[in-house]
Amino acid sequence: MDGVLAVVGTGRMGEAVLGGLLGAGVLTPEQVVCADPVRPRREEVHRRYGVEVTADTASAIDGADVVLVAVKPQVLGDLLRREAASFTAEQTVLSIVAGVPTSTFEAALPEGIAVVRVMPNTPAQIGAGVSALCAGRHASEADLAIAEDVFSAVGSVLRVPEEQLDAVTAISGSGPAYVFLFAEALIDAGVLLGLGRPEATELAVGTLLGSARLLAESDEGPTALKEAVTSPGGTTIAALRELERGGLRAAVFDATQASARRAGELADPA
Ligand SMILES: NC(=O)c1ccc[n+]([C@@H]2O[C@H](COP(=O)([O-])OP(=O)(O)OC[C@H]3O[C@@H](n4cnc5c(N)ncnc54)[C@H](OP(=O)(O)O)[C@@H]3O)[C@@H](O)[C@H]2O)c1
Repeated sequence: MDGVLAVVGTGRMGEAVLGGLLGAGVLTPEQVVCADPVRPRREEVHRRYGVEVTADTASAIDGADVVLVAVKPQVLGDLLRREAASFTAEQTVLSIVAGVPTSTFEAALPEGIAVVRVMPNTPAQIGAGVSALCAGRHASEADLAIAEDVFSAVGSVLRVPEEQLDAVTAISGSGPAYVFLFAEALIDAGVLLGLGRPEATELAVGTLLGSARLLAESDEGPTALKEAVTSPGGTTIAALRELERGGLRAAVFDATQASARRAGELADPA
């Protein structure tokens, strides 16, 4: 990638993307400037990646070609109010801020600025993320290609219309937490059945990992793969009956609707 990238907010996600970009050689450390208000965080990021990290957000934005906004939704309103003048219409803004539409950036920043909204997820930390992105009003094919270059460094990328981004948030953005909750439950269940915690953990994690790979690599969908484990009158169907009785499927529907609704509520940062 050409030009300079400003990473505004070097929390979990900002750092994941930064690490992916440098690790994949998409950018050199000289092409990156980061901003973060927390001194220990700045020192840590500088030590790990050799990039410039400043407390002065305005100076990081000023002079960058691409600005990755990776702060929490709750502080975005303040950031846009204070730093709007540091942006120029020639920059490309990549926002990963959950729930906040491209129109919020377009209204607050110089007229004509290109905004691409992206929803990544935490497996990006190990290059196994999945990100969905959409273009704002002024984002061109070239801006979308920049966003795809950046987020391909930490996993796979797909384009969706902006009205689907809250649904994306509910499935893949929040999704890792659902999987970790299920993993925790499966491990505890193994302990309840008398397995040692390390053995239960190895079995549960191995099962999740192997099943996800099988699902990704097989030509069969989840229904056929589930049926292949489920022999008539056997152990698995006895377990599946209990999961259905416990309302697992309905709980997943309700949970993802709650996440999408919450993403919608974050749309207008105060
Ligand atoms: N984590 C996820 O799974 C995930 C997935 C998809 C999208 N996202 C989105 O990614 C964004 C970042 O999430 P995160 O989990 O990485 O949050 P985080 O760990 O809290 O990181 C945000 C960082 O930005 C810093 N910051 C706050 N105001 C700033 C400013 N004016 N200039 C520069 N830096 C500033 C924060 O400092 P302080 O700690 O001092 O506030 C913090 O270090 C959020 O909007 C979230 O919705 C997260």
